[in-house]
Amino acid sequence: MNTLPSETRRRTLTNLALDGAMFVTFLIATAPRFTGIAIHEWLGIALGAAVLTHLVIHWSWIVGVTRRLFDRTTGSARLNYALNTLLFIVFTTIIFTGLMISETTLPWIGIRPERDRFWTQLHHLASDAAVFLIGVHVALHWRWIVNATRRLRARFSRTAPSLSAAPVLTKEAQQ
Ligand code: HEM
Ligand code: HEM
Repeated sequence: MNTLPSETRRRTLTNLALDGAMFVTFLIATAPRFTGIAIHEWLGIALGAAVLTHLVIHWSWIVGVTRRLFDRTTGSARLNYALNTLLFIVFTTIIFTGLMISETTLPWIGIRPERDRFWTQLHHLASDAAVFLIGVHVALHWRWIVNATRRLRARFSRTAPSLSAAPVLTKEAQQ
């Protein structure tokens, strides 16, 4: 029996769940006044860990496109690569500056950073840039999101036909 479709399906659902959780966490993290700073800081750190997992999951895409970047690859892969690189820089900046102005998480392990206007402003600037970049990142993967969501709905619908048909390919499989 061919197990590929169910393996592909499982991976698609894992990615969709992680991407959805990251998106919601990101939206909540952009509104610290709504959650309070303590929750904001822990959510931000959790999001950092989720993004690392996201990168590990897409590692073969990163390695593959890096190898072909100056040789032969599609324009859309190049665009995604440039955007993902910017996202990486911006998210690293947010987490780093967040830790530098931390009021809860670093003091919790006994480190009390000096409050610095520069880090605060950079934190604000990087999170504004992230709102824009995440918007474009999600827009560029919109078709994948819609297709994967349809499959998820079909899975939980009683009237759904066999799920083994037409699997939604991961980005790696599409490259
Ligand atoms: C709120 C945060 C984010 C959301 C909702 C999100 C969503 C997505 C989606 C829907 C995909 C395509 C489907 C998939 O295979 O998972 C994807 C792919 C990818 N994302 Fe993200 N992402 C986020 C943050 C990031 C960040 C911060 C980076 C870089 C540091 C990143 C790097 C990548 C890479 C390398 C891929 C695979 C290649 C590609 O198609 O662009 N993502 N992401
Ligand atoms: C992707 C994750 C994050 C995003 C999108 C984000 C976004 C923001 C935004 C938009 C503000 C300004 C809120 C306002 O002006 O009302 C802020 C403030 C703050 N953030 Fe983050 N943040 C993130 C992660 C973190 C992390 C990991 C930490 C620390 C561990 C942190 C610590 C803080 C602190 C202490 C403030 C208050 C600064 C002030 O006095 O204005 N953030 N964050």
